[in-house]
Amino acid sequence: MNTVMDLSGKVAVVTGSGRGLGLAYAKALAHAGACVVINDVDDDAAKDAVRQIAEAGGTATSLVAAVGPAHVADALVTKAVDEFGRLDIMVTNAGILRDGVLWKMSDESFDEVIDVHLRGTFTCARAAANRFREQGDGGRLILISSPAGQLGNFGQSNYAAAKAGIVAMARTWAMELARANVTVNAVIPVAATEMTKTLPAFAPFIAASESTGAPLPGWIRRDEALGTVEDVAPLIVFLASEKSADVTGQAIGIGGDQLALWSHPKVKIAVYSDGGWTAADIAAAWAAEVGAEPEPFGIPSPQVPEAHV
Ligand SMILES: NC(=O)c1ccc[n+]([C@@H]2O[C@H](COP(=O)([O-])OP(=O)(O)OC[C@H]3O[C@@H](n4cnc5c(N)ncnc54)[C@H](O)[C@@H]3O)[C@@H](O)[C@H]2O)c1
Repeated sequence: MNTVMDLSGKVAVVTGSGRGLGLAYAKALAHAGACVVINDVDDDAAKDAVRQIAEAGGTATSLVAAVGPAHVADALVTKAVDEFGRLDIMVTNAGILRDGVLWKMSDESFDEVIDVHLRGTFTCARAAANRFREQGDGGRLILISSPAGQLGNFGQSNYAAAKAGIVAMARTWAMELARANVTVNAVIPVAATEMTKTLPAFAPFIAASESTGAPLPGWIRRDEALGTVEDVAPLIVFLASEKSADVTGQAIGIGGDQLALWSHPKVKIAVYSDGGWTAADIAAAWAAEVGAEPEPFGIPSPQVPEAHV
């Protein structure tokens, strides 16, 4: 079950891979044999990531730059080609949070998040797609989304919009790049990282696990699908491998003990009125049929078992 998938000869870029999930993805890809370009805004973290991979017998180099603009995406692809001769896998993972409810969110907070997540995913994927098409032998775009993009999340207009947009781009590019044998999937991870470890419901359990080295409690791993970054990395290796050659256009969740396929939006119920609808007719149809079972929204609050409250 734990057989390493062989990625020898493959070259990957992982954005935001100086720490957290990105570092785990880079290490797992290198462990499977891929050469990896580490990218981060944090110079020390990027250097340390390269050192850790080399010490474990892998091959990596780094490029310190803030993902977002096209020239950074182009530089990442150039780095992969100059150092390792080609590019096979682009993982768009770099991310930041700038939370705030709508009426308090500044233009700067909105733009910063959109720039790193949405534009950064677009520019890096475009640069990779151009290279894949030139090489002519396929490729892998692995885009990192979030439950917030699927469900909405309080205080995260910017982040939820960016992460929802990333899934929409994955579906679009899966169509556009199918003929080039490039698969495009969105990953919806959940893991204890700098980004999540202060969430009030989980903070004490994550802190205890970090200080004792004991695993997170079973209910967090299973019911909340929250585990370590290492729990998420095997999905990236699978999506990078030949084993996933026919997996594309999907939004795949992973965290703790859970692996999940997210459904795509589709029309749930449709009713018809010859010649169109008046507002009054819509009100009646909403109450009687169309709106009888409205869709839920928002990430459900964690359910901490009685024994742990
Ligand atoms: N941790 C989770 O549970 C979770 C859940 C859903 C989605 N995600 C997504 O996974 C990705 C990684 O999250 P994480 O929890 O490891 O976060 P993290 O904060 O631990 O790591 C993010 C890394 O990205 C780097 N970074 C930030 N801006 C950058 C930029 N412009 N260019 C290059 N690097 C940049 C940071 O320096 C950091 O090393 C993010 O896209 C995040 O939105 C995480």
